[in-house]
Amino acid sequence: MSLTLLVESNPRIIDIYMLNLSTYVGLDIMVVSTVNDALQVLDKQPFKLIISRASMEQKNLAELIADKMGQLQLTIPLFVIGHGVYPKLATGVLSGSLDLKGVVKGAAQALGITAQQMAQKKVDDFFPIHSRYIQMINFPNTDLYEKTAEGQYRLIAQSHKKLDHSTLARDTFFYVQKLDRLQMVNLITSELISLLEDKDLNPDEVIQAGASNLELLSKKLMSIGITEETIQLAKKSMTSLSQNVKKNKELGKLLQRMLSNQAGYLFRHTQVVTYVSLHIVKHIDWGTPEQEDKINFICFFHDIALENDVQAKIKNKEELRKSTLDTREKNLVEKHAQIAAELVHKYPHAPMGADQIIRQHHGMLNGAGFSDHFGANLSPMAIVFVVAEEFTRIIIEKENGPYDVKEMVKHLKTAFPTSRFQKMIEIVEKITF
Ligand SMILES: [Fe+2]
Ligand SMILES: [Fe+2]
Repeated sequence: MSLTLLVESNPRIIDIYMLNLSTYVGLDIMVVSTVNDALQVLDKQPFKLIISRASMEQKNLAELIADKMGQLQLTIPLFVIGHGVYPKLATGVLSGSLDLKGVVKGAAQALGITAQQMAQKKVDDFFPIHSRYIQMINFPNTDLYEKTAEGQYRLIAQSHKKLDHSTLARDTFFYVQKLDRLQMVNLITSELISLLEDKDLNPDEVIQAGASNLELLSKKLMSIGITEETIQLAKKSMTSLSQNVKKNKELGKLLQRMLSNQAGYLFRHTQVVTYVSLHIVKHIDWGTPEQEDKINFICFFHDIALENDVQAKIKNKEELRKSTLDTREKNLVEKHAQIAAELVHKYPHAPMGADQIIRQHHGMLNGAGFSDHFGANLSPMAIVFVVAEEFTRIIIEKENGPYDVKEMVKHLKTAFPTSRFQKMIEIVEKITF
């Protein structure tokens, strides 16, 4: 095994890296969490790779490491993560630590390990996972085993059944079948990411965590519904989306950040529709902080039942009919507004009328299917949402821009010619890119 030095101070991110780098690339990892320790330890072990933060404790950590490597004449690949100064000799850099595919790929490349070698890596039939990770999961996505004193593997929990933590031994290893290991590691990784706080993350990482959390929450809501666990994650995710709107005065910057972090369509759509809707409610005469919370809530939940970007891109009956999705997925897309509305209906203290707007967000009163026409009796809040969603669709279609607001607004005015819509559209026109 190749010994890797990881210089990172966030304990959750350390866990995420240990788990993923050992599972995917087979690395042995030594962790140090301070600048001083990082510089002291460099020549103490035969490291094959160094993965380090660009900055730590307000110092250019990666540069300090690079200088010290020069003094010690060490020629080890140095992979640098996060914002800050990237030394010339860095073999790879990533601006956000939660691009795990990038980390795994970068580490493997630096060590000359090919994707094929990773895939063909020999693994025992049962793969060990420490109990502290298993403790984070309420519904495992694979069967779980323990190893008996005789060396046999005994099933202790079934996939998708609620895990009774009180019966689980602590500080030991549990096992999953080898073919299930990546699925389990990915689930634990999502759980670890959901425990990170935005205040400890850089703006790229906030986007990466936001996308991961939206996907995790969607899966949980569809399998376990509204529980204390899903409510907490929903609140955290909603706050993160509205904070991203506050922190990014210009929508273009936020779009670029999502694109550069390869955030998927579903997340970009949810973030942008939140941005545009909040912009409208902030500038309209009846807008209040309560109304802002309400539209934030609606934007967050409206497509929560959708599972992937292909489903999320479908915008009318015709596209749904022509899509290559299987029957189950088509059915889900057909009913996604209704399913989301039913979830929201059960959500404690959901803003009044939010479920109604979510149910009708594709113009159908019962939330099933798509209509090109919105009824005349739409509430003002529903109009905000409909306008924001259509604007979002146009913006995202433009990918990297340029974003010609005048031209995009012209499209909106044609799509929604009635006077109740025009007022909202005039506010949209003031969005700056
Ligand atoms: Fe949507
Ligand atoms: Fe939708």
